[in-house]
Amino acid sequence: MVGEGMLLVMAHPALERSRANQKMMQAAREVAGLTLHDLYEVYPAFTIDVRAEQKRLMQHQIIGLQFPMYWYSTPALLKEWIDLVWLHGFAYGIGGTALEGKRLFVACTTGGRAEYYGPDGQNRYTMEEFLRPLEQTARLCGMEWEKPFVLHASGAKTELALQAGADAYRRRLAALAAVAVFVEPEGPAIQEIRE
Ligand SMILES: Cc1cc2nc3c(=O)[nH]c(=O)nc-3n(C[C@H](O)[C@H](O)[C@H](O)COP(=O)(O)O)c2cc1C
Repeated sequence: MVGEGMLLVMAHPALERSRANQKMMQAAREVAGLTLHDLYEVYPAFTIDVRAEQKRLMQHQIIGLQFPMYWYSTPALLKEWIDLVWLHGFAYGIGGTALEGKRLFVACTTGGRAEYYGPDGQNRYTMEEFLRPLEQTARLCGMEWEKPFVLHASGAKTELALQAGADAYRRRLAALAAVAVFVEPEGPAIQEIRE
């Protein structure tokens, strides 16, 4: 099943205290053909409905994951959702073809500045490297890996800069959701919002 449109799976454990993801989520709500799915709202006790989630995945063509970077990884509920839903026989392995041909798009916010990420920065590795487990998860499941969107230094940004980042995000989502007219953004392997 190929599915239609985009599913944006959001994971932020304290959205009421969020600046970046909150604004990005508002931007996402304005995008046609996009279904927003807020994991911490639906599953505050981590009681994930695996069947319902698998069905939701199958119904969409592009799967987006939006989250704040926590310890160089995803928040816990997003990891749990992948662990429980992307099962052998469904997402990979024998008979596991449900996600084949779909596209995985990651949108991540960081507290660290862009220059912290890379061999000369305090975090030592690039964002591309930190996102590799998700990239390889996509590849194992036969999905295409979209250029990730990374909004850096979320805490240090002015309201104006954050809004500009959210606007860039809305444009990217709109391009993704309009599957038929998708154009890969030019430039490096990650679309970064630095300042
Ligand atoms: C538990 C925890 C772990 C975090 N780990 C990282 C990290 O590894 N790298 C980083 O750049 N920022 C890290 N941060 C900062 C968050 O990524 C940042 O606050 C978030 O992206 C801001 O988005 P928001 O305004 O939507 O909350 C961490 C924050 C918390 C609470």
